[in-house]
Amino acid sequence: MRLDKFLCDCTSGTRSKLKKDIKAGQVTVNGNTVLKPEQHIDEKADEIFYKGQRCVYEQFVYYMLHKPSGVVSATEDAHERTVIDLMGDERRDDLFPVGRLDKDTEGLLLITNDGVLAHELLSPAKHVEKEYECHLAESFDEKQKERLEQGVDIGEKSLTMPAVVHTLDDKMIALTITEGKFHQVKRMLHAVGNEVVYLKRIRMGSLMLDAELPKGSYRRLTEEELDGIFRRDK
Ligand code: URA
Repeated sequence: MRLDKFLCDCTSGTRSKLKKDIKAGQVTVNGNTVLKPEQHIDEKADEIFYKGQRCVYEQFVYYMLHKPSGVVSATEDAHERTVIDLMGDERRDDLFPVGRLDKDTEGLLLITNDGVLAHELLSPAKHVEKEYECHLAESFDEKQKERLEQGVDIGEKSLTMPAVVHTLDDKMIALTITEGKFHQVKRMLHAVGNEVVYLKRIRMGSLMLDAELPKGSYRRLTEEELDGIFRRDK
């Protein structure tokens, strides 16, 4: 890996600032000052110091992103802005979103480079809970609630698995599902005679969307959040 890329991945500096610092002699590799940002290093074996501090490469990184409406849940797209584009130009190039939210859906997305964790969280067999705040076109009633709780026909081979429903307002519910079929929440509400007009994911397993995190922003998961997704969700 290039030295400037390595430093970019394990510090909060921008690539241009780090390049300058390398050229200014602020970086050593195995005790020798290296002045070329493009120099290749072995991130697992080499001892790299930046401004006197040892930099240890993180193999896996985990971010919470507050997805806004209007961006697609993909790593790249020829026409649309993606959730990975929101992570800035200095981001690692191995990041991807864990699962998909529709372009018009907002809320919690886990962004990582850990394929094993992603697989665990998305595997249908694991039944990881996903909770959504749903704003509806029509009043929500007991009959609709019961049907969602029992499972509804959305045109798949079997009914949806029983959902947990909390009525928040006349036209607003919190819906927890353990599957992740295409447009599942919208199709479930349509199946009971209602329509989703706004959808926001607020939880995935133990991971709650940080209410302080502005739309379009991201941050690293805390140690506590990491413990949660590794211990409880797997
Ligand atoms: N269900 C939907 O219908 N859309 C989403 O984005 C997520 C779940």
